[in-house]
Amino acid sequence: MTQERPDGAPVDPAGRFATATSTQVAIVGAGPAGLMLSHLLHIAGVDSVAVDIRSRHQIETTHRAGILERDSVRLLVDSGASDRVLRDGDQHRGIYLRFGGVSHHIDFEALTGASVWLYPQTDVFKDLAEARDRDGGDVRFGVRDVRVEDVLHQPTVSYTDAEGARHVLSAGIVVGADGSHSICRALVADRQQFFREYPFAWFGILCEAPKSSPELIYTRSDLGFALISQRTDRLQRMYFQCDPAERPEEWSDARIWDALQSRLAGHDGFSLREGPIIERSVLPFRSYVQAPLRHGRLLLAGDAGHTVPPTGAKGLNLALADVAVLAEVLERAVKKGDTEALSTYSERALARVWKAQHFSYWMTTMLHQVPGAAAFDEQRHLGELSTLVASEAGKTYLAEGYTGWPDTTRHGATPGSRVSSHGDGSTAGREG
Ligand code: DHB
Repeated sequence: MTQERPDGAPVDPAGRFATATSTQVAIVGAGPAGLMLSHLLHIAGVDSVAVDIRSRHQIETTHRAGILERDSVRLLVDSGASDRVLRDGDQHRGIYLRFGGVSHHIDFEALTGASVWLYPQTDVFKDLAEARDRDGGDVRFGVRDVRVEDVLHQPTVSYTDAEGARHVLSAGIVVGADGSHSICRALVADRQQFFREYPFAWFGILCEAPKSSPELIYTRSDLGFALISQRTDRLQRMYFQCDPAERPEEWSDARIWDALQSRLAGHDGFSLREGPIIERSVLPFRSYVQAPLRHGRLLLAGDAGHTVPPTGAKGLNLALADVAVLAEVLERAVKKGDTEALSTYSERALARVWKAQHFSYWMTTMLHQVPGAAAFDEQRHLGELSTLVASEAGKTYLAEGYTGWPDTTRHGATPGSRVSSHGDGSTAGREG
């Protein structure tokens, strides 16, 4: 459906004519948000072109979070983007909160009837990229010098390809799904920016070791936060709180294990299993929201519009929730000429974004040590955790936030979904 239109195209710096293409929706950023949007638009009969400055391999090998909310899994499965999440993902019915050297299980299924899936973002990306290949999607990785212009009237996205040729996409609408270093977000005039910095970061590792626990363990200790997550039976993902200026290459395996073991130490017989560390990196912490998420014919989705600190793994889930709403709004705008629909997007998306901002902030502050904090606050957070794990209401509040707040307007949130809505602890939805 995308048409080449070489006539009248501008000339690139080398004196060649730039190739001009017109498309209904140009998507800047082909990570999970951009590709899921492109996939949903394809289903709706709306054509799109997605571009990304990163190579497909680069995106596929950048480790990110690994937890999907129930509605994220529904969206992947019910839209036909991924069956693999039900086969290869691990359904988790809860998490452990560990403090005072003792783990407490929070049983999401029992509390809310919902669970989450451990399925890494890199796999979500692979599934989406394959779905776009399968359906003939137009996704252009590894481009450079991306420019977005005239978003109020006749938007264009231009870029240089790997061979040095300049291309211009003229688009009805541009979506900025270009992550936390977004070039699109600055194009929103009269934007408000809300942010919070944190005086700590996460040291993240991948290691070759068996699982230490059937489900994730979020730990508060005198020495700081630690999180025991997983990837496969033989590959584990773990994090511990560190200084943002920490240099991963200066940490030996022994020092890393000492940091993790001392934070996980306790009185309940828990034992953290070790193995060779095959990757290490420091993850920044930041809360950020830009409002509105729309300017004329430009709309922002995912990290381009908002970032959350990693505690609680809301980033990818928020991005998928954004594009579920966005696909619906764009379909109305493009196919029915209902451009008023575009004006509803920002408010609908931001309502969830602020819930997730609060949830991520709350989980973060409850579980981390602020350097130099008063002893009073340390004891107060232990009081908060003790109150939480002893209260059905408290645990339910955590479970609702972690598994994701329902949104009945979302694609796939239907009674016919192949992903169970009321858990009985079984692996509902896996068959087939
Ligand atoms: C993972 C990351 C998170 O930030 C989190 O809260 C849970 C799990 C992960 O990478 O597995």
